[in-house]
Amino acid sequence: MKEQLKSIEERAKDELSKIGDVKLLEDFRVRFLGKKGEITSILKQMGKLSPEERPVVGQLANKVRADIEEALNARKAELKSRMEEVRLKEESIDVTLPGKPMKIGRAHPLKVTLEQVEEVFLGMGFDIVEGPEVETDHYCFEALNMPKHHPARDTQDTFYINENVLLRTQTSSVQIRTMEKRKPPIRIISPGSVYRSDAVDATHSPIFHQIEGLVVDKGITMADLKGTLELLMKRLYGDDAQIRLRPHHFPYTEPSAEVDLMCFNCHGKGCSMCKQEGWVELLGSGMVHPKVLAECGIDPEVYSGFAFGIGLERITMGRYSINDMRLLYENDMRFLEQF
Ligand code: DAH
Repeated sequence: MKEQLKSIEERAKDELSKIGDVKLLEDFRVRFLGKKGEITSILKQMGKLSPEERPVVGQLANKVRADIEEALNARKAELKSRMEEVRLKEESIDVTLPGKPMKIGRAHPLKVTLEQVEEVFLGMGFDIVEGPEVETDHYCFEALNMPKHHPARDTQDTFYINENVLLRTQTSSVQIRTMEKRKPPIRIISPGSVYRSDAVDATHSPIFHQIEGLVVDKGITMADLKGTLELLMKRLYGDDAQIRLRPHHFPYTEPSAEVDLMCFNCHGKGCSMCKQEGWVELLGSGMVHPKVLAECGIDPEVYSGFAFGIGLERITMGRYSINDMRLLYENDMRFLEQF
């Protein structure tokens, strides 16, 4: 019996060392230490022993049981701590690893320019107003002194929704909408998208942006127009920026002028950037036509005004020496990252 107990202990310890999962330990305990386990079955045979042998074998059996129990508990603790270690390793976060790079967007050059223009005009007490891009023929042309079949319409072919509704070709439509609603003094700018059915090339796009300006009050003159635009251009292009007003014709202004900026590359001498002109055309402007004022219910005998329309793309391209308008719309990060 002593031999049996010894061999039970050996087998138990051997098996125990092979168990790799805590869940299997309970099965082990039942088999060796349980009520129907191996040790109990030995103890049940104690009756066969002589009275002298009984306490000796009994003591040995208790010791073997205690040893196996101890080994079992030790194994359990070992396996548990090993599992804990594995779990910790799996769940651990290495805070020294570099994080995922976050893509930070940046303002588009058109937006940067627009915000600077807005800031200049807000500083002079202008309001910023917006008008609809889907516009009626009336606001886009008719009320601007461009009746149907007026030749000036030819330069602004657009996309028609129907005979009377179209995508606006110019933000000048907002002048009319504003003058109908507000009475002088009026000082507004109106930025927004405009549409023309032009083919895409380095200087044309079917969608582009304008910033319209309108001032109406008593005693407004061409000098106010020039002073306002001069200030804007100095803010945009630096204090040595120079502009000139060149006579032109727009149906809704009288007199009308185109405004040129002295070429910042050659300072008026003529170079390839300004096509040897020395000057770069920037915008259209003029004194609001008395007929337009009157149509909007403003008495041209009492009030006068100036207006202008700036191409946002054009002044942006000038500032950053961008020579192809398409670059502004392609959203190529390699291009945009430079601003
Ligand atoms: N609407 C003109 C254009 O799209 C620009 C313009 C010219 C606007 C003269 C004006 C103006 O307000 O007075 O080319």
